[in-house]
Amino acid sequence: MPTVLITGCNRGLGLEFVRQYLALGWSVAALCRRSSPELESLRAEPALEIHLADVTDDTALAAVAAGFAGRCIDVLINNAGIMGESNFGESGMRSQGFGATSREEWLRVFDVNTVSPMRIAEAFIEPVCASERGRIVTLSSEMGSIAGNAHGGWYAYRASKAGVNAVMKSMAIDLADRGVLTLALHPGWVRTGLGGPRAPLDVETSVRGMIGVIERLAPADSGSFVSYEGRVMPY
Ligand SMILES: NC(=O)c1ccc[n+]([C@@H]2O[C@H](COP(=O)([O-])OP(=O)(O)OC[C@H]3O[C@@H](n4cnc5c(N)ncnc54)[C@H](OP(=O)(O)O)[C@@H]3O)[C@@H](O)[C@H]2O)c1
Repeated sequence: MPTVLITGCNRGLGLEFVRQYLALGWSVAALCRRSSPELESLRAEPALEIHLADVTDDTALAAVAAGFAGRCIDVLINNAGIMGESNFGESGMRSQGFGATSREEWLRVFDVNTVSPMRIAEAFIEPVCASERGRIVTLSSEMGSIAGNAHGGWYAYRASKAGVNAVMKSMAIDLADRGVLTLALHPGWVRTGLGGPRAPLDVETSVRGMIGVIERLAPADSGSFVSYEGRVMPY
């Protein structure tokens, strides 16, 4: 039974990754900083283990990683992410506009979206390398595409996702000789807490697409930036 480790599993896309990988017969390690009734409702599944850790807490991550010594992680999914102060609210999109950025908020967004995927990859690299098909995947966003930026704004979020694309590309090169493949994934604009109610996509479609893209990932495509439909995105 292959094993997947997913961060940010108590709601949104992370919770749906848990549901779909369990349905596919995988062993699922779900990381979250707090559980939820939806995640708890799956606790009876023998293939599910739930670990509590904030992705910005290296000590907590090291404690979880210690429990994986001698084990194997086939797919590691860095899903946890934040948009930052402004959000897609009921009233529509507001941007992290020019003149309204904050150093503290910028660093918080970078910590979760850019630094944590790197630190988690470093913390869990041995169990990932123990797999014959080790893959490290990070949820990026089309908003991290510099070439695709037609609307401006969202400084911290866009930069954090462009930054994590660079992280995933370097990791693809550095980990190639250990047989590990990496991928930055755009899930589409999806109805979640982060995506908001006006998003066109449901979590089931997005996650089904992303799991397919992860399964089809070939060594020649390691480090690429791809949408849930398998479309190659411009960096
Ligand atoms: N939805 C979209 O349209 C969309 C589009 C492009 C990219 N994405 C990306 O997809 C990923 C998942 O987003 P989503 O739409 O599912 O968002 P969401 O519904 O807001 O869920 C975000 C998840 O990340 C977790 N998280 C945030 N900060 C954390 C931390 N410090 N430690 C541990 N967990 C943390 C949250 O946990 P708590 O409940 O504890 O806060 C929650 O489980 C993100 O990386 C996001 O940037 C989403």
